[in-house]
Amino acid sequence: MDFKIREALPKDAEQILLHTKICGGETDNLSYGEEGFSFTLKQETLFLENLLKSHNQILFVAEVDNKIVGTANYTTSNIKRLSHRGSIGLCVQRAYWNQGIATSFMENLIKFGKEEAKAKIISLGVRSDNEAAIHLYKKFGFEKIGTFEGYYEIDNELIDVDYMNLKL
Ligand SMILES: CC(C)(COP(=O)(O)OP(=O)(O)OC[C@H]1O[C@@H](n2cnc3c(N)ncnc32)[C@H](O)[C@@H]1OP(=O)(O)O)[C@@H](O)C(=O)NCCC(=O)NCCS
Repeated sequence: MDFKIREALPKDAEQILLHTKICGGETDNLSYGEEGFSFTLKQETLFLENLLKSHNQILFVAEVDNKIVGTANYTTSNIKRLSHRGSIGLCVQRAYWNQGIATSFMENLIKFGKEEAKAKIISLGVRSDNEAAIHLYKKFGFEKIGTFEGYYEIDNELIDVDYMNLKL
């Protein structure tokens, strides 16, 4: 299967909103479920327009046959004392798992963090029972720094989240 990773563009807004609904509905690993993002198409388009202008934040998409099947974001704070850190998050649609898309996303995110955002630390939060994602992050050198017990509440169940850092 061939896939392409590229920066998200404003014209992707509709597909990205649909993708978040698909991803959110397929796992309980994210901060949202099948409702996806609450943005309207107009809000998402504006968000993507602003993101394109940013030098220290980015959204990547993975495309298969011109269809968006994955997203990965890098965000940071513009507050001076926090801006040495970046945060990342990613989701690949289930039908496309285990084909290297997230690995390619991670390469792009880390390169962006180092070279564009000039980060010193990249952080992420991951459900403590998300073995595939933890395997992926460890592969890139991320180390667990702690556990936030009860970070999510899903269907009356409290879910722990591990925080992991990569020092650049
Ligand atoms: C986690 C996720 C991003 C991985 O995406 P992917 O495109 O399938 O990842 P890749 O194909 O690049 O790599 C998967 C790796 O995990 C491994 N893996 C898969 N299932 C695994 C499991 N249950 N336990 C341990 N490792 C596992 C694969 O063997 C592969 O390892 P390798 O590169 O050493 O061979 C994807 O499953 C996903 O989007 N899940 C839902 C949302 C999510 O959990 N996002 C992360 C939130 S922090």
